[in-house]
Amino acid sequence: MSEIHRASTTAPVNIAVIKYWGKRDPKLNLPTNSSLSVTLSQADLRTHTTASCSPSYPAEDSLLLNGSPQDVSGARTQACFRELRALRKQLEDGNNALPKLSTFPLRIVSENNFPTAAGLASSAAGFAALVRAIANLYELPSSPTDLSRIARQGSGSACRSLFGGYVGWEQGSAADGSDSMAFQVAPAEHWPNMRAVILVVSAAKKGVSSTTGMQTTVATSSLFAARASETVPRRMQEMQKAIQDKDFETFAKVTMMDSNSFHATCLDTYPPIFYLNDVSKAAIKIVESINEAAGKIIAAYTFDAGPNAVVYYLEENEKEVAGLFKSILGEKEGWAGQRGQAVPINDEARDKVVVDA
Ligand code: DP6
Repeated sequence: MSEIHRASTTAPVNIAVIKYWGKRDPKLNLPTNSSLSVTLSQADLRTHTTASCSPSYPAEDSLLLNGSPQDVSGARTQACFRELRALRKQLEDGNNALPKLSTFPLRIVSENNFPTAAGLASSAAGFAALVRAIANLYELPSSPTDLSRIARQGSGSACRSLFGGYVGWEQGSAADGSDSMAFQVAPAEHWPNMRAVILVVSAAKKGVSSTTGMQTTVATSSLFAARASETVPRRMQEMQKAIQDKDFETFAKVTMMDSNSFHATCLDTYPPIFYLNDVSKAAIKIVESINEAAGKIIAAYTFDAGPNAVVYYLEENEKEVAGLFKSILGEKEGWAGQRGQAVPINDEARDKVVVDA
């Protein structure tokens, strides 16, 4: 029996507070603006991925997600496989003793512990885990920064899931994408009392995919140019300073304004894209009333490409924010479920590399 090499890892979900929306190069997945996110707890939201390879496997690479076979022939997945294989081949060329893993078919098995494609950034954790699992399998000496450049090509937001805490994605300017990668703004311990409550308004697959939606926005929205060239660069600075200073009011205000700007740009797309529904809008109203009652900003909503709300708050305001949402959740129709609170933490490596004989 021929050998099977195997490695596993987990990757966390991240939720952007400054949104990535627009590609300047769809092939290399290069963005039109930088973005910034908070990495959530893997206890609540994560992808677990095992990558294995063997000369005994059927010739085609394969990917199983939550038990269902996925198409791996798409350019995004292929780009990740190709780049990782090329890095492995470099190691093999320099050391004859290494097994020629780069020539073996790959088998990837992934499991999410949250609804896939519900606007909960499943592609972010998914591609981050896929890239890291294969990098572990190939025993590549790559840093999270190196891996973020590869994961970006699978799904843009995935580059930010290679880091824990508060994470930026520098858009870069190089034509080959070599400077478009993620970086850590601050580790989770810097501002450890940050919390997020996720309101799963709908766990159904989202209507317009991010990829299609952002392409149409770039092509048709007149609001888009100002967002990419002026609004986001300014907010990236404000947001990084707010995080450094642990200034929740500014963090929250910029988060909400950027979510609003992103969804306004979606509405300004032709034909228009509606990700928010009436329940999403009710969540915005509730956050507004929480902040009004507190006399200061203690809660911030944000929405990705779907109706689910993520509300950031500080632990000391648990009762006023998460407590209120929980009490409403029980009664109100439309709140299909809730994941409770997720704590931003570092992506603790849970890597395992094994070889079965
Ligand atoms: C609204 O990373 O899913 O969540 O690069 O086409 O795979 P692709 O897009 P994706 O887009 C995420 C968009 C967003 C904002 C964000 O996470 O920054």
